Amino acid sequence: MGSNVEAIEEFFRRRYGGDALVLPSGRLALYIAFREWLAPGDRILMSPVDDDVVFFTVLAAGLVPVLGPIDPDTGNLDPKAIDDATWSRLRAVLTTNLYGIPDAMEVLEERCHRHGLILFEDACQAFDTRVDGKRIGTFGTAAAFSLGKHLEIPGGVLVFPDSSRRDSLQRRAREALRTRPHSAVTAYKALTFLTAVGGPGWAPRWLGHLVGQGVLPSDRWRGHRMPYDEDAVRNAIAGGGGLDRFDHWVRMDDLPYRTPLPHVVLAAALHRLERFDEDRPRLLAGVQSLLDLGYIPPQIRIPRDTVLLRVPLFVEDRERVLAQLARRGHGIQCIYDPPLDEYAPAFAEQLPSPPSRRIWSRDVLPVNPRRADRFLALRQETPSLFRPIGADLSRAASRPTRAA
Ligand SMILES: Cc1ncc(COP(=O)(O)O)c(C=O)c1O
Repeated sequence: MGSNVEAIEEFFRRRYGGDALVLPSGRLALYIAFREWLAPGDRILMSPVDDDVVFFTVLAAGLVPVLGPIDPDTGNLDPKAIDDATWSRLRAVLTTNLYGIPDAMEVLEERCHRHGLILFEDACQAFDTRVDGKRIGTFGTAAAFSLGKHLEIPGGVLVFPDSSRRDSLQRRAREALRTRPHSAVTAYKALTFLTAVGGPGWAPRWLGHLVGQGVLPSDRWRGHRMPYDEDAVRNAIAGGGGLDRFDHWVRMDDLPYRTPLPHVVLAAALHRLERFDEDRPRLLAGVQSLLDLGYIPPQIRIPRDTVLLRVPLFVEDRERVLAQLARRGHGIQCIYDPPLDEYAPAFAEQLPSPPSRRIWSRDVLPVNPRRADRFLALRQETPSLFRPIGADLSRAASRPTRAA
């Protein structure tokens, strides 16, 4: 096993420079980086169009999320819309690189330098993304990668240029690791798999019973965000934060997010990493076929030479489209609706953001380019259901929302 870990770390060192640490998940990589470079109470700028997991990881590290303005043309933070007084109250910035579309790295680098801020890169969705030839993951103090996203296998990697931090990061990782009973992890995975394949209610009753017993997470999802109890989150913050207090929300759908990776997973991860460049032309063709459909308003800036994690198409009546796709067994993930400022206003500071950013939550249909052929075939069956939102983002954003 040691040799697989070493080989994966060596892969990331070669690709990104600096040092690298293999971890069970991208979220654990983020958490450990926050703990290493920040202190509780520090304010961190992040995007409101981001995963709940990332938001709760920020809270677990004792930080205060400051939800910044969105650039409607990229779906990421708009650093030019933030004034100096706000920058000077921050301690750090966390990028998103939503769906693999790069953040405004040059501006962020400049602002972080000017105001003495730490720049963390969330590269979980951006394994193939570059800005002017420079890879996402090589700009900041630390970058978190998720093998679960681009390679569809559990695992995370933290990349950091300052290798003198390695011992300290490794110690933090050891402290955070927890081994869950394999029965619970296996039952949870089986339940997720059977539900995904057969639909809700298809899984054997005893598995559902295990969930009901609290062995496994029992939250039933409503919409696109995890439900949470505000008082429980408040208590976890008041109690001093940390992964144990925030475990329920940070683990979300990934029970083993801090369980050491088994040998078989590490070997498969290494194999997929080494094959990624070979697969790249096929993946790029999938991206291209989705970009060419005509569902992306012209002002939206999406790199054409990048294996995006998802290709964001913008459609009217998105919930109806999702329901139709789900009926045909085609699930769509990575929808961040409502944005975090509406999802958890009690736990974040908020900066004003233009109304047109709503399209990145309400209208976006993020399609996995690995499944482009399947998506194209389904769209062909009911083309009239898939209507683009049009070129005027402000008008699109001001449409009333139809109930899901
Ligand atoms: C933007 C982003 N960052 C980080 C993560 C965490 O990655 P992982 O699932 O490997 O913990 C996710 C997804 O969960 C994500 O969407």
